[in-house]
Amino acid sequence: MGIHTRSVMTILLMLPALAMQSPAAGAMESADCLGCHGDSSAVGAEYVVGAAFDSTAHAELGCAACHPSVGSSHPDDGLLPEKTHCQNCHDDIQAEYAASMHGENAACNDCHNPHNSRGSEEVSGYDMNRPCVACHDGSEMAGSHGQWLPQADLHLGALPCITCHTGSQEYVITFYLRKKRTGDAVGSFLPAGYEELSVLARDSSVQRLIDGDGDDRISLEELYVFNRQNNGGELILQGMMTPATLTHSYEILESRWDCSFCHASGPKAMQTSFVAFPEKDGSFRRMAVEKGAVLDALYGTPDFYMLGATRSRAMNIAGLVILAGGLVLPVGHGSLRFLTRNNRKGKGPQS
Ligand code: HEC
Ligand code: HEC
Ligand code: HEC
Ligand code: HEC
Ligand code: HEC
Ligand code: HEC
Ligand code: HEC
Repeated sequence: MGIHTRSVMTILLMLPALAMQSPAAGAMESADCLGCHGDSSAVGAEYVVGAAFDSTAHAELGCAACHPSVGSSHPDDGLLPEKTHCQNCHDDIQAEYAASMHGENAACNDCHNPHNSRGSEEVSGYDMNRPCVACHDGSEMAGSHGQWLPQADLHLGALPCITCHTGSQEYVITFYLRKKRTGDAVGSFLPAGYEELSVLARDSSVQRLIDGDGDDRISLEELYVFNRQNNGGELILQGMMTPATLTHSYEILESRWDCSFCHASGPKAMQTSFVAFPEKDGSFRRMAVEKGAVLDALYGTPDFYMLGATRSRAMNIAGLVILAGGLVLPVGHGSLRFLTRNNRKGKGPQS
């Protein structure tokens, strides 16, 4: 009864608004919305970057999927548009995240921009850490992690936080092109952006900076060529160890204390690698690198060096034992012995 009365009341109240609506009421297209919201001078803080939104999976749903209450007399109707909750469509992730250690600490929108939501393969490792360090101060993290993790700056730069703090089990190495900046500390891991690289690529595509033959995959040979041309020059390949499949099961994991989790027992991670190139819309596109190329630390990826991991079976199979014996082991052995002193669990890497 009460409900019935309320609905009638609502309809009566809405009548003037309904009368004003055109036949296409409520069917404003995303492009119409962006006519205003894509223009920062028109809407100020209500600005939505259309160029980024248009290439996301959410663009296919359209603005109205998440803001269903926006009618044709918006914004003059003075109504505050509805904002659909993420869990209405992503209930599986919501359930996993809510059950994790971090469920109470941040909401989906604290880490995601609903207007620029992308799959993990399209987001650089650097950008993955942006939301984390917005709440967890970067230099504080370097300090607290540095109590047990040597070269904490380098580790926090070469590992997205989620590599250690979610239950993901499999990893790949993803490389980003980064400008070599003279006098830079290792701490600066910002990948080069699309505009910067376009200048260097001149008339060609950004991908062609490495993928010389344009076949959409990167061979060891192409890495050699890239390193020969660019090592003395402006660009290096910055490697990061990123989850192969992403989870939202935030945790503090015992295994991540263990240096050998990455440094001695990661042959799988070392086998599969990608170079991620920036796109015009700010996302990244991954291109597969020839299997095992990362193990060729001398010529393939000289600026990425996963100490100790080269002692793995994969290294032997790759037939690069000489490289491991001659170069990697002495350095690795010495520094690991020195650096594991502060490992709180006292677990050195197991050979
Ligand atoms: C004629 C220009 C115009 C169009 C077209 C338009 N908007 Fe708006 N919109 C505005 C303005 C101006 C505001 C701010 C209103 C205010 O502050 O009272 C606003 C506010 C909003 C808000 C609320 C922001 C907040 O702070 O809560 C949302 C959400 C929104 N619009 C979504 C949309 C969607 C979705 C569409 C298309 C279906 C759309 N708008 C079309 C001008 C427009
Ligand atoms: C996947 C769902 C989703 C889609 C699609 C979506 N929005 Fe939103 N939008 C949201 C959510 C959620 C918020 C609230 C964000 C917050 O509070 O941090 C929001 C906030 C806004 C705001 C307030 C300002 C801001 O950025 O927080 C505006 C304006 C807006 N949306 C306009 C649009 C327009 C225009 C489109 C289409 C081009 C669109 N939205 C598409 C979910 C969506
Ligand atoms: C109306 C349904 C709907 C809502 C609401 C919604 N999404 Fe989505 N979202 C989708 C669909 C459909 C896809 C594409 C298929 C997929 O990956 O699940 C998607 C994709 C994504 C992706 C990219 C995944 C990929 O692999 O490309 C992210 C990130 C994402 N959503 C985050 C969010 C966040 C954060 C919110 C809340 C602000 C939200 N979504 C709200 C339907 C929705
Ligand atoms: C503490 C930060 C954080 C919170 C909170 C968070 N996410 Fe994520 N999420 C990430 C990161 C980091 C990634 C990987 C980079 C990316 O895709 O944006 C990601 C990726 C995703 C993806 C893409 C998954 C894939 O396989 O590529 C979806 C979809 C998503 N999140 C949805 C959600 C939803 C829905 C919520 C709320 C229930 C949520 N996220 C809460 C950090 C967070
Ligand atoms: C909106 C703010 C916010 C964001 C964004 C955020 N966190 Fe948190 N996080 C918190 C708060 C609050 C706590 C609980 C208090 C504390 O330990 O600082 C917490 C706790 C944690 C803890 C556990 C500390 C403990 O001892 O229980 C970890 C690990 C963590 N966050 C990792 C991350 C990672 C990784 C990301 C990015 C993917 C992230 N957080 C993004 C606010 C945030
Ligand atoms: C190499 C793996 C690793 C990486 C990378 C890593 N963490 Fe941790 N983190 C840990 C471990 C292990 C602990 C538990 C240490 C302890 O209890 O003292 C921890 C503890 C924490 C804590 C709680 C204690 C504190 O220091 O406040 C927070 C918050 C946290 N991490 C956030 C982050 C954020 C944010 C990032 C990315 C900037 C990050 N972590 C990167 C492994 C890692
Ligand atoms: C979650 C994976 C992970 C864990 C756990 C981890 N590391 Fe690392 N480590 C890396 C990555 C990735 C790099 C960066 C490689 C690069 O960029 O050259 C690295 C780099 C290093 C380097 C620098 C190598 C060099 O000379 O450039 C040292 C030393 C090192 N780690 C020691 C340790 C020790 C000791 C522990 C245990 C307390 C540890 N790591 C735990 C992944 C890890």
